[in-house]
Order: sequence, then structure tokens, then C-alpha cells
Amino acid sequence: MKILITGGCGFIGSNFIHYVLRHHEDWQVVNLDKLTYAGNLANLKDVEGDPRYKFVKGDIADRELVSRLFQEEKFDAVVNFAAESHVDRSILDPSPFIETNVKGTQVLLEAARQYKVERFIQISTDEVYGSLGETGKFTEESPLQPNSPYAASKAAADLLCRAYYKAYGVPVIITRSSNNYGPYQFPEKLIPLMIRNALAGKELPVYGEGKNVRDWLYVEDNCRAIDLVLERGRVGEVYNIGGNCEKRNIEVVNAICEILKNHHLTQHLTPKIRFIKDPRGAAHDYRYALDCSKIKSALGWEPQVSFEHGLKRTVEWYLANQAWMESVITGEYQEYYQKVYGANG
Ligand code: NAD
Ligand code: DAU
Repeated sequence: MKILITGGCGFIGSNFIHYVLRHHEDWQVVNLDKLTYAGNLANLKDVEGDPRYKFVKGDIADRELVSRLFQEEKFDAVVNFAAESHVDRSILDPSPFIETNVKGTQVLLEAARQYKVERFIQISTDEVYGSLGETGKFTEESPLQPNSPYAASKAAADLLCRAYYKAYGVPVIITRSSNNYGPYQFPEKLIPLMIRNALAGKELPVYGEGKNVRDWLYVEDNCRAIDLVLERGRVGEVYNIGGNCEKRNIEVVNAICEILKNHHLTQHLTPKIRFIKDPRGAAHDYRYALDCSKIKSALGWEPQVSFEHGLKRTVEWYLANQAWMESVITGEYQEYYQKVYGANG
């Protein structure tokens, strides 16, 4: 099987490429990535020499390049991770989100249609469902009510996938996962940002009162679910993939501080949490929680890594890979940080 993985130099994409090459000896992987600020070749350094792996630098919204690639490589399947993925950035400027997440997905769908791929897996998110109150869970039937430009662009892509399935029979399957964490996550997201700030002796900026709830999923559990969907999922279906692990943000930040304390890394430097004015305003979803009974009954998938274990592994990975952390941060990151956190940073 030859698969096109887009956005493979990002967080989940690079973990998925590692997963595929570890679990499928005879699969070939082509990774198409634009190498935005979030994409790093360093994430895949260890597989560069693997004859089953090939990297192509390019944009999924580039119609000509995508069409040529499909013609040359004759893919059996596509897994589309490529996206602008950060909510705060989408609030600062939605345009790249429309270009990549909406137009880019349509370009890929069109190529999949023309070259008749057997499977098209669209990596979507629980954010398309909007926000929950204190109770309840989203099922695959919940209405799409996105609140940020990021979530709206992902919902638009999901609807295009549905339309390409209905109108042209493109064999699309959508996965909607909750918040992933683990190695290689760019330090703009909650967990790696807090680890980096704590190690650098900077304050830990928690939005609002830190009461928002996210459902945390260890990235390897997500990779296993996507792999199952790719092999055995039903075409035309949507699968929720959640961690069954709801935590308030402040609990997550406290848990990181605790692990760092146990490593005696912050003994002279107690990390200081600072509650800052919420930069997301009304677009900040209060709570996400996913009902994952469909993927459990259809494919036998359940998360295996507990939050306690996964978070410890994650913190330890970042401690062992501080050079990676610093290498992925550019001047652009400092500018972005200043815009979101301002004097609070
Ligand atoms: P990421 O930001 O870490 O990586 C995105 C990757 O896509 C980068 O390598 C980047 O260079 C590449 N890319 C961006 N624009 C591109 C373009 N136009 N053409 C080709 N490549 C491009 O993202 P992530 O956190 O790994 O998320 C991957 C996917 O999973 C996204 O579609 C996201 O919406 C979805 N998702 C993420 C989470 C999460 O918790 N991180 C949860 C649910 C769903
Ligand atoms: O739910 C799936 C989504 O999870 C994915 O679709 C997105 O691509 C991914 O970025 C993630 O979105 P979130 O907005 O939930 O993740 P983030 O890590 O940015 O924020 C998690 C929570 O922490 C959120 O309530 C905002 C809060 N937060 C975040 C940062 C970066 C803070 O309090 N302080 C911060 O500095």
C-alpha cells in the first residue's frame, strides 16, 4: 500500500508516520508538507534514510503540484493532516486557515476523485461541534457549530468531504479527535508551552480562570485509531476519537508543575501561574467531551494510555529534547508570542 500523508512534519502527522513505519513493514509513505512554522524536518530525522519513506516539500492547495504527485505516485490512500491548527492564530488572521484547511482539502479531494484513490481519511477535530456546558458529550450526529475561524475552516472541510462522497463517491472517512498531547507538539499549544515556560523560568499564562475543560488524548492512541480507521473504517462515516479524560486547564498546568517538581527541576524556581485576560474571548469553547462508543463497537478501539502516564512521558520527552524545542522556535514565534500574551508573557 502506498499512502500520501499530508502535514507529516507536524505534531500528529510525524507521530503517525513513525507509527505506520513501525507497524506496516510493506507500506510506502509519501509525506507532502509545506514546512510552515509548525512543520519541522527534525521530527522525522530518524526515518530520512528509510527506503519506504519519501518527503516532498509543497502546498496541498497547489493544484498542479498535487495533481502531478497523484499521477506519478498512484496512491492507494490519503491521510490529510495538513492544516493550520492553532485557534489563537486563527483569531489573529483567519486567511491562511481558509487557504489550507478549506481550499487545500478541496484540491486533495479533487485529485483523489480524478486518480481514484481507495481511501481518503480526513483528520478533523471535535472543535467542529462547538462548545458544551457542564454535562453531555458530542456524538457523530451532533450538529456542527464551530466558534473560531479555525473550527469553522475544519467544519467547512468536513462538509466538502461529505459532498465529495455523496456527489462523486470519493471514499472519504472523517476522524474527529479531542486534544492530543505527546512528543513533537509545537510549543504554542497548552502543554508544551507550559513546559517550556516553566523550564525557562517564565510565568505560566492561563487564560481566564483556567476552568475550561478539554478531553486529553495521548497522540499514540490517536495514531492507533487512525490506522484502524484507514484499514477497517467504513467509507462515508465519521468517527469520534476521544481520550475519555476531561480536565480543567488549571488541573493540567498543576499536574505539569508537579512532575517538574518531582524531577527537582523547579526546586529553586517554583513555576508561577498567571491568570491572564482570555485572548479568545467569546470564541473560547468552554468544554469538549466526546462519545466514542461508535469506534469502540465498530473497530474495538479505546484509549490505552492514562493521562498520568502520558503526561509524565511527555514532560520527560521534552526534558530530553530541549534542543529540539529551541530549534523549532524562530523569530516568528517570539512575534506571535508577543501578540497573544503581550505584557503578560
Ligand atoms: P501541526 O500544526 O502541528 O502541523 C501541521 C502540519 O501541516 C505542519 O507540518 C505544516 O507544515 C503542515 N502544513 C500546513 N499548511 C500546509 C499546506 N498548505 N500544505 C502542506 N502542508 C501544510 O498540527 P497537528 O496538531 O499535528 O494537527 C494535525 C491535524 O490534526 C490538523 O488537521 C488538525 O486540525 C487535526 N487535529 C489536531 C488536534 C490536536 O490536538 N493537535 C486534535 C484534533 C484534530
Ligand atoms: O480539541 C481539538 C483541538 O485541540 C485541535 O483541533 C486543535 O488543533 C488543537 O490546537 C487543540 O485546540 P485547543 O484550543 O483546545 O488547544 P490549546 O492547547 O491551544 O489550548 C488548550 C486550552 O488551554 C484552551 O482552553 C486554551 C488554554 N490555554 C492555551 C494556551 C496556549 C491557556 O490557558 N494558556 C495558553 O497559553
